[in-house]
Amino acid sequence: MIVALNNKCNLTKEEFIPYQKELEEIKTSAKLIWCASNIYLGMMNNSNLAIGAQNVNSKNSGAYTGEISAEQLKSLNVKYCIVGHSERREYQHESNEEINNKIKQLLKEDIIPILCVGEQKKDRDNHQEEQIITTEVLEAIKDLSEEEKNKIIIAYEPIWAIGTGLIPTTEEITKIIDVIKNLLPSNKVLYGGSANENNVEELKKVSNIDGYLLGGISLKPEKLKIFLKKLEK
Ligand code: 13P
Repeated sequence: MIVALNNKCNLTKEEFIPYQKELEEIKTSAKLIWCASNIYLGMMNNSNLAIGAQNVNSKNSGAYTGEISAEQLKSLNVKYCIVGHSERREYQHESNEEINNKIKQLLKEDIIPILCVGEQKKDRDNHQEEQIITTEVLEAIKDLSEEEKNKIIIAYEPIWAIGTGLIPTTEEITKIIDVIKNLLPSNKVLYGGSANENNVEELKKVSNIDGYLLGGISLKPEKLKIFLKKLEK
């Protein structure tokens, strides 16, 4: 099982140091991928966890003030990078085309993209979720070779489930993962959106799931430990 942690835009330096210690002491058979804020990536080099970033520039290194390139991420030993998170699609107006370019940049540097896809509540109410997910996946992997496509991890994150405490039914998650796996049969697919230590037993019933992308509880090592323990039972 893969468990990716998305710290989002959280933790001051004072908070980060004890948090890092707690995180690194966690024992689990799951593969932990730790996506911290960019400013901490250079402090995570000795970590026993796989290092992930939360975003990357869609272009090469160069005159792009405030951006961070895939080449720079690689130099910090970053192995994974979230792309197309719904918060970036919404607040930074990231398009599928830009996400496709980011994926290409990452693959050029051998960094594994964790592509986030997911529908809004209104899309689900209108039974559009499968169409939305299909479009997001296909546009993100446009022009990639089979070999490149196979490297990507997909995270199904329904937007209405992120940070709300709501989760889809196990049947709904299974169905969307099937849609994704029909497009990309050999890729790992994670679920994200209010996954926590209280609903992990329910989520475990999703038979085609390869792991989770955790937001809120990634910041609470005690709860994360319970999540991981229940996952292993
Ligand atoms: P929450 O777990 O806080 O709902 O966030 C999920 C998420 O957006 C992970 O990328």
